[in-house]
Amino acid sequence: MASVELTDIRKVYGGNVEAVKNINIAIEDGTLCVLVGPSGCGKSTLLRMIAGLESITGGTLKIENAVVNNLGPAERDIAMVFQNYALYPHMKVYDNMAYGLRNRGMPKDQIDKRVREAAQILELTHLLERRPRELSGGQRQRVAMGRAIVRNPKVFLFDEPLSNLDAKLRGQMRVEIKNLQRQLGVTSVYVTHDQLEAMTLADTLVVMNAGAVEQIGAPLDIYEKPASTFVASFIGAPPMNLLHVSADSSGLLLKDGTHIGAEGLAIPAAGAVIGFRPEDLEVAAGSETHLGGLLLDLKVRGVEPVGAESYVYGIIGGEQVVVRVPGRSVSEPGEQLRVIIPKEKLHLFDGNGKRI
Ligand SMILES: Nc1ncnc2c1ncn2[C@@H]1O[C@H](COP(=O)(O)OP(=O)(O)O)[C@@H](O)[C@H]1O
Ligand SMILES: [Mg+2]
Repeated sequence: MASVELTDIRKVYGGNVEAVKNINIAIEDGTLCVLVGPSGCGKSTLLRMIAGLESITGGTLKIENAVVNNLGPAERDIAMVFQNYALYPHMKVYDNMAYGLRNRGMPKDQIDKRVREAAQILELTHLLERRPRELSGGQRQRVAMGRAIVRNPKVFLFDEPLSNLDAKLRGQMRVEIKNLQRQLGVTSVYVTHDQLEAMTLADTLVVMNAGAVEQIGAPLDIYEKPASTFVASFIGAPPMNLLHVSADSSGLLLKDGTHIGAEGLAIPAAGAVIGFRPEDLEVAAGSETHLGGLLLDLKVRGVEPVGAESYVYGIIGGEQVVVRVPGRSVSEPGEQLRVIIPKEKLHLFDGNGKRI
């Protein structure tokens, strides 16, 4: 077990592609850190630099307080689990898990003990004699994890390990990985583009955008206080609604020129973005005043019932929004609704998308 510390870490490919820009992250011993962001934002590059599979252009990488920038992958004492499992197809599950240990010359009885322990933890004991093609996707992913566990590494690295699984299995495996990580207490770095996976797994969540860190924090803190419009629209599904507004003499102008009152909201003269979560709108019964919140007109475009709740899609002030309502929605396309967003539910960002 070990802490992992990244200081001003950079990666430039081929002299001009800056894939990772000055990243600073401190990962505490025994915790699970998730790197999340859209495809191409540099997650895998960063993970591969931690693994030693990619050279580090600039900055310092420490594992357990020792600089490891120039150590090879084998010397870093880490284990990596990939999306495509990378199992040896001709080897039995047992041998897939034992392979790395045999390569290191570990005595046979010790290997056997480790493989059987890992198999028990992962509920693979009855599958040890099978080959990968005789396993389901979820079982293969477990074998890939077993192969990482038997090595007893200081750090686990995961690169989108669940991407090849169907949604239901992904949900189950997510819980298993979380439990396993807690049980083993091994410091882990987990890469995903899936915000739900990121939210549910992370002790520390790192939201990345275009090679840089947008925000680091506990998942729910980030959900409740996104540092930028990028984070606000990336974390949470459906995403946070964003309205681009400007101040006028007596209130606010929405994007389509609609004027609304907005007492107590300090909007910069240069304009701002007002954010609110889909669950934070209330449909006005008719006569309420907005009590310091926003009272807005929403034109319904469509309704998606998803079972326990419904998503009402619509337009406010010329911009698309979505509202989450419990159960079935009675709204119809074309209908006009008055909605209230309580003041304490509003998020305010400046013209550059930074939280105010
Ligand atoms: N070997 C490489 N050579 C040049 N550019 C690369 C290489 N690997 C990745 N990149 C570029 O670096 C950026 C980050 O890629 P990557 O780390 O794979 O993103 P992610 O894992 O977040 O999808 C992308 O623009 C990608 O095209
Ligand atoms: Mg990747």
